[in-house]
Parts: sequence; structure tokens; C-alpha cells
Amino acid sequence: MHPMLNIAVRAARRAGDIINRSMDKLDSLDVVSKDHNDFVSAVDEAAEAAIIDTIKQAYPAHQIIAEESGSQGDSDYVWIIDPLDGTTNFLHGFPQFAVSIALKHQDKLQQAVIYDPVSQELFTGSRGAGAQLNNRRIRVSHRKELAGSLIGTGFPFRNDQDLDAYLDTFRAIAPKTAGIRRAGSAALDLAYIAAGRLDGFWEFGLKPWDIAAGVLIIEEAGGLVSDMNGGNTYFESGNIVCGNPKVFKALLQNLRPHLGR
Ligand code: IPD
Ligand code: CA
Ligand code: CA
Repeated sequence: MHPMLNIAVRAARRAGDIINRSMDKLDSLDVVSKDHNDFVSAVDEAAEAAIIDTIKQAYPAHQIIAEESGSQGDSDYVWIIDPLDGTTNFLHGFPQFAVSIALKHQDKLQQAVIYDPVSQELFTGSRGAGAQLNNRRIRVSHRKELAGSLIGTGFPFRNDQDLDAYLDTFRAIAPKTAGIRRAGSAALDLAYIAAGRLDGFWEFGLKPWDIAAGVLIIEEAGGLVSDMNGGNTYFESGNIVCGNPKVFKALLQNLRPHLGR
């Protein structure tokens, strides 16, 4: 394993342990609302601190961009961290959330980890070295069209998001598929694309830390990722489409006429 991936895995497992230990005291957790329906708990913060501590011990000069504490340092190496993706699920004891850690070098994703502390599934990706689930190689699914496909998505939930615009895309996609899932952790949704459990995914308004690790893991598993127009502005726009190559293409084609609003 690449030494930097090894550090990312160690950091993710440390964060996962913190998250797991707090699962049986959810009722006594301090929770702050950062924005409408956007929560942060002491667990998010403790998990993030553990990740940053692990990375800094190994690579003190690297830059860090983390959801809760922001950006620190300045380097060609940038770690992008979501300590707990799916906080709303976590706070309800709904077991679908994950730790997401990615490393970019000169703006190119190099290493990625998504760790589900409940199932203890560890998804990893290393540029040029493929994607793995618990150290076994994973590939995207082989489904060829939307018919029969299981598609993931995320619903708008913040005040500044346009629910009607999203519903236009939902109406265009949902009836053509075998089913749509809104599981509540974008990072795990992307990991599931890489593992072939979902065939495609789309969501608007995500943050870099929601998707950075997932993008690399999907690409290393043979999948494709773009913004809604087939371009690569997903980190800036937060709008993302991904899937196995055939379903990805079908999603883009079917979304395009409904992006007007
Ligand atoms: C959220 C999850 C969710 C997505 C939201 C994200 P958080 O992350 O990824 O699936 O729909 O847009 O903000 O806030 O739980 O880290
Ligand atoms: Ca997130
Ligand atoms: Ca988070």
C-alpha cells in the first residue's frame, strides 16, 4: 500500500472508532445547527481532530482542508477531509455514514479512503493502482442502460437549494430505472458506485469533502464522473453525475433537457 494511503487508512480508522464509541450515547450529544438542516456534533469535531492529528504526525508540511475546521497550511499536497459524512443519519442512529479522506497532489487526486465504521467496510483508491473494498479489487457494475439500474441521489435540504429544479431531474430519471435510493451519505453513495452496488448517481450542491475520495475510487474502479454538462467542474459547482460508463452516459443524456430551471 502507498505510504500516504496507509496514513489515510490509519486516520479513517481512528475517526471510525470515535464515531462507533459514541453510537450508544447519541441522546447526550451536543449538536449545533450550522445552517438550516446542517448539523455538526462534538463527534464530527473529535473525529476530524483525530484525522488531522494522524496526518500531521506523518506529514506536518501538507495542507489540510477539513469540513469543520477549514483550511490550514499551504502545500502541493492537500488532504480533503469529511470526518463524518451523513451526520443527520448518524444523529438518528440510521447506520449509513462514513469517514472520507482524499489526498491531492498538484491538484490531482492521488489517494482516497471511505470508511464505514458500522459495517467496517474500507473502500480505498490509489491513482493507477485500482480501487479496493477491504483490500479486494472492486469494479463498477456492467449494467448497460437505465432500465434495470439502481440509481443513487441526494435531495436538496438546505434553504438555498432549489427543490423544484431538482424534482425536474428526479421526474426525468426515476421512472426509467429499477429504483432510486437516497441513503444520506454522498461519500458512501460514491463508494457503492465503485463497488457495483449502485449503477449511477447524481446530486447538486455537494462540497469537495463529500466527493473528493469517492471520485478517485470510482475512477480507479472503471467508472466515470462529471458535472451535469459532462465537464469537470464538479468541485467548483458541487453538481455531480457518476456511474459505470454506460449508465453515466445515459444519466447525462436524460438529465440534460431538465437542467433549465
Ligand atoms: C451530507 C451528505 C448527504 C448529502 C449532503 C451532504 P454531511 O454530508 O453527504 O448525503 O446529501 O449534501 O452535506 O453534512 O452529513 O457531512
Ligand atoms: Ca459531507
Ligand atoms: Ca460531514
